[in-house]
Amino acid sequence: MIGLRILPMNSKDIGEAYKIEQLSYRTPWSKAMFMMDYLLNNNSRYYSAKRMGRVVGFIAVWNEKERLHIVNIAVHPDYRRKGIGKRLIEFAIQLAKREGKKEIYLEVRVSNIAAQMLYKQAGFEVYRKKPNYYDDGEDGLVMKKVINENFRD
Ligand SMILES: CC(C)(COP(=O)(O)OP(=O)(O)OC[C@H]1O[C@@H](n2cnc3c(N)ncnc32)[C@H](O)[C@@H]1OP(=O)(O)O)[C@@H](O)C(=O)NCCC(=O)NCCS
Repeated sequence: MIGLRILPMNSKDIGEAYKIEQLSYRTPWSKAMFMMDYLLNNNSRYYSAKRMGRVVGFIAVWNEKERLHIVNIAVHPDYRRKGIGKRLIEFAIQLAKREGKKEIYLEVRVSNIAAQMLYKQAGFEVYRKKPNYYDDGEDGLVMKKVINENFRD
């Protein structure tokens, strides 16, 4: 998508990002949880995908020593299937590479085929199932991508 930029999330953008969160999930994080993670969690980083000054998507990652954990990724419903999700995932993969991580991983609902397709396209593979992982009882899949084959513990 022309004119799309991915930038560390500005505190002015958090409201727009939270709207996307609400439009994107059956059980969105509460606004308080979202804000606390953004503001107070030293291991979390949020990045906005912006176009013409508007937030059209975002990604959140947690730093976990050897791994980068994608904890949230969402694209505004009006802007889906335009390659923004792919750009956000590629951005996170580059971040993991630059930071010398062993792996990048995430959890996804077994029913969320759109997201699973996106991750597979980016080279992620299903690693294991987490039964009952979500609040409503749905199973989760852990999908991961090895970043550095030669990583030494
Ligand atoms: C998952 C999500 C982030 C994808 O964002 P997006 O910007 O639409 O994705 P892209 O346009 O970059 O799609 C890249 C590839 O992913 C796959 N994909 C994306 N949406 C898909 C869909 N609805 N059905 C099937 N495949 C899909 C396709 O392989 C696509 O490539 P293609 O368009 O060349 O066929 C978006 O659907 C979303 O915000 N969903 C709600 C939140 C969510 O479920 N987040 C993931 C939580 S684990």
